[in-house]
Amino acid sequence: MTSPWWQDAVFYQIYPRSFCDTTGNGVGDLVGIRRKLDSLVELGVDALWLSPIYPSPMADHGYDVADYCDVDPLFGSLDDLDQLVADAHDRDLRVVLDWVPCHTSEAHPWFVEARCSRDSPKRDWYIFWEGSPEVPPNDWRSTFPMGKALPGSAWTWDEISGAWYYHRFTPQQPDLNWANADLREAMHDTLRFWFDRGVDGFRIDVVQHLGKDPSLVTVDGHGSIFGDQPGPTDPQRSHEYIRELRRVFDSNRDGPKLAVGEVYVLDVQGAASFVGRGPQGDELHLGFNFLPLFLPWKAAEWRAHLALVEEAYGARQAWPTWAFGSHDIARQRTRLGSGARARAMAVLLLGLRGTPFLYAGEELGLEDAHVPPEQAQDPAGFRDGCRAPIPWDDGPGFGWAVDEAWLPWPPDAANLNAATQRQDPDSVLSLYRRLLAARRASPALRQGEQALSRHESAIESDVVAWERRAGADVRWVAVNFSDESRRFVPATGEGWVVAVASDGLGEGAPYQGELAPSQAVILEPAASATG
Ligand code: NOJ
Repeated sequence: MTSPWWQDAVFYQIYPRSFCDTTGNGVGDLVGIRRKLDSLVELGVDALWLSPIYPSPMADHGYDVADYCDVDPLFGSLDDLDQLVADAHDRDLRVVLDWVPCHTSEAHPWFVEARCSRDSPKRDWYIFWEGSPEVPPNDWRSTFPMGKALPGSAWTWDEISGAWYYHRFTPQQPDLNWANADLREAMHDTLRFWFDRGVDGFRIDVVQHLGKDPSLVTVDGHGSIFGDQPGPTDPQRSHEYIRELRRVFDSNRDGPKLAVGEVYVLDVQGAASFVGRGPQGDELHLGFNFLPLFLPWKAAEWRAHLALVEEAYGARQAWPTWAFGSHDIARQRTRLGSGARARAMAVLLLGLRGTPFLYAGEELGLEDAHVPPEQAQDPAGFRDGCRAPIPWDDGPGFGWAVDEAWLPWPPDAANLNAATQRQDPDSVLSLYRRLLAARRASPALRQGEQALSRHESAIESDVVAWERRAGADVRWVAVNFSDESRRFVPATGEGWVVAVASDGLGEGAPYQGELAPSQAVILEPAASATG
């Protein structure tokens, strides 16, 4: 049985606001994405995931959707989207959109109708609580802002509704009630709308929160604790709705579409529980696992995590994913505090078994922008830095149609822009291109089995290493987590050549058994090396 395309693809996440502006309003747009398709082909990725492009008041920069079946004029039009999908497909690039099913914007016509009338059928599409305006139903907190001040209540009193409504995120994002079958059907229709326009699938926002048990909304404030905050989330119902969704994705008339879930559950077994199951699987095709984003840069922690992922996903015959950056977390170089480590992380991302998701700008080795408080945009309060605009060249406005974009430029954009890095074989961009080419050329790296090295020298050292194998095709991947050099010898085979090195050192030459400080390598058998 051939594996589905998404198991063989490298995804590239585009945050449209920050990608490329062609109109001069300082916000990226769909025409800008179209213009960059050739450079993405050159980079070597296979599929694009676009963060939301729907009409939205932008309280959460598009994750507050006012219409699931259109494009916000800020980004362009439906025609632009159709053209983008057509142009991408002409280049063998797939396009996956972002679907935000747990909440709408307060400006969505469904919510406008629901809040205006207790008798409207839409009232039950949201979670209202008709109590006293003085006292919220309980003390559940919303997720945003995170990490700084105590987040606000997850309940907002609405004068128009004469009731409280529940919102896990900002007050402008009322949660939907998936227990209502009409709501579910209406949401399924929004998927079909885009399937018919040719999009290849969806990334599904915080999918673990789909299921809610309204009976958990009690005035004493004790709800299910699942994910980051107590709330009405009911995992069993989430599984049920996801199984129903899976049937919608699989029964598309032109063949199955991809469902990749943002499963924000910070334990590996829990995250895996939403993916696959059984040979064909009846839940998500793919799901994110966010734990690596929070792992310290230590060999022992990463080795244990890789083993856990193998076990948890293996037990379900589910295919893992790897995402080490996104629009929600500080960039790798900022998090790890070192360019060398961020380069090693690129080798990790593209050397592991599973579908990689590369966040736009990581291939340039960007750091977070410094955003002064008066320019802050993010309702959560900590995500502006990683959303800084992508610098394309070293001219004024770095290739954007405007000098100042909606957020400040990332540090050192004059050198880290794509055009400058393209000329430099030692740049981070050149490293990503070599890694993506190596992955494309090797069935072992794309699809092969993975065996973590249990070799004593590897276990005791700061090196995490694993073998990838598909039939006769074999590679070794080794990452030195130490800032000093370390010995490492693959446990199988002999006569290895450095196919790709995170610092470029020794590529094409026989591997000498030693990794430089913070170096990561892909090794190929000398016999098969193309040199
Ligand atoms: C997860 C998204 O990635 C994030 O950007 C958004 O703010 C929340 N979900 C709410 O939709």
